[in-house]
Amino acid sequence: MFYMNEILVKQIEELLKEEDKLSALCNVTAAIYQSMDNINWAGFYFYKNGKLQLGPFQGKVACTSIEVGKGVCGTSYSRKMLLNVQDVNEFDGHIACDPDSCSELVTPIIFENKIFGVLDIDSKIYRRFGIEEEETCEAITKLIGKKLAAK
Ligand code: SME
Repeated sequence: MFYMNEILVKQIEELLKEEDKLSALCNVTAAIYQSMDNINWAGFYFYKNGKLQLGPFQGKVACTSIEVGKGVCGTSYSRKMLLNVQDVNEFDGHIACDPDSCSELVTPIIFENKIFGVLDIDSKIYRRFGIEEEETCEAITKLIGKKLAAK
């Protein structure tokens, strides 16, 4: 972890001290949206009843559910891996909730091998996300996974 935005990760660690998980996650999306330049959407999709359902987010109205294995989010979920898509036009099956989105970073939320969903961040700029954002989102989703797994 050499490149991550430590200030944002620290802020999110503080926000996750809120007992109510939904309230905490709403604030997490606000913190990400305010701290990252040139992003037009930041939010969650959580696994529920066999699909990924829209969770707290910032940005334009979005698709309410995504099938596992579909789009960038569903693919990240099914492969349990981070997907940094530099140009969404080159990702087969990309779901264009907001046609303005050009690049997208999706990070799975995993704790002890259990996957809860994904954190999705979109940008109107091609190649917006790099190693800093990847490491930052990995650190954030690790904290969220721990929070969601806790009673
Ligand atoms: N583009 C995503 C869909 C979600 S929106 O970007 C908010 C995808 O392909 O999974």
